[in-house]
Amino acid sequence: MFITSPGRLRQRGIIGMNKRNVIYIGQNNKRRFYPRVDDKLQTKILAQQAGIAVPRLIGVARYQNHTRQLADFLAEEQAFVIKPSKGSGGKGILVITGRDGQEYLKPSGSRVNNQALRRHASNILSGLFSLGGKPDVAMIEELVNFSDVFDGFSFEGVPDIRIIVYKGYPVMAMTRLSTSDSDGKANLHQGAVGVGIDIGSGKALNAVQFGRPLEIHPDTGRNLKELEVPDWPVFLELASRSYEITELGYLGADIVLDKEKGPLILELNARPGLAIQVANNYGLESRVRRVEEEISRGRRDPAERVAFSMRHFAA
Ligand SMILES: Nc1ncnc2c1ncn2[C@@H]1O[C@H](COP(=O)(O)OP(=O)(O)O)[C@@H](O)[C@H]1O
Ligand SMILES: [Mg+2]
Repeated sequence: MFITSPGRLRQRGIIGMNKRNVIYIGQNNKRRFYPRVDDKLQTKILAQQAGIAVPRLIGVARYQNHTRQLADFLAEEQAFVIKPSKGSGGKGILVITGRDGQEYLKPSGSRVNNQALRRHASNILSGLFSLGGKPDVAMIEELVNFSDVFDGFSFEGVPDIRIIVYKGYPVMAMTRLSTSDSDGKANLHQGAVGVGIDIGSGKALNAVQFGRPLEIHPDTGRNLKELEVPDWPVFLELASRSYEITELGYLGADIVLDKEKGPLILELNARPGLAIQVANNYGLESRVRRVEEEISRGRRDPAERVAFSMRHFAA
């Protein structure tokens, strides 16, 4: 993944896997708080209680007999998503964008009937998509109507914005754009493009694919430098507030942009990856130190933390 030697990277304050695991995660994230982010249902409930914007929870199927009532339960819903509460990597997510009579429509235009919907929910409950195959619950949430401001920047998939939050302070951001190499998936290891986003402005910094810099999206031809996230301070404040609800000192907040509702937290991660440093061509270490210094001066609320980060971590 990295193009320069580990020594060079350390010099630039880029932290490695070992340091992340031992210092950043080990010292900041209490194990007992992990379920707050590893379980999307818990995250959603905590966020909704705190008034943090998330896609609305429509319902939860907890037991197999719930799946039989699913069709009736969803009778009034036009568009929704069914996902495993403990899923990852997009596994087991069924997106329904509309209905046609008795059937449901998928984004591809293909159809799903009630029986298939029920079977899908049933598979989620039995743990088919969840870590270690453990039994899970099926969450039904409203469909995000993705804003079109990022159109042309991504091939097929819709981008989300990942913001790393250290003790409540946004310290680094990026977006992942899917490509034909990544098969429409926003996974950097599969060939998605990572674009570093300036904490000070929401504007694109550098872009990388397979650890190498690039300027133009390989499929869509868009100049990646033109990417700019609108309402950037709102993104930062959402990310910052996820500290209070999770009590995790080091986390990654994944935020999507809905046409009408604006930025929404899609999920939180207690073990965010380190490639964000490559996309920013900058290391986390000095920013974390700056935050520690600031924290030693006293407690700040999310708005103050965001103002601090925008001032000090601007490119
Ligand atoms: N409510 C939703 N509306 C529209 N698309 C969604 C929704 N939830 C998830 N998706 C799609 O599925 C992807 C993965 O969802 P996410 O909740 O982050 O689960 P995972 O942990 O598997 O990554 C998102 O990036 C998005 O493309
Ligand atoms: Mg995700």
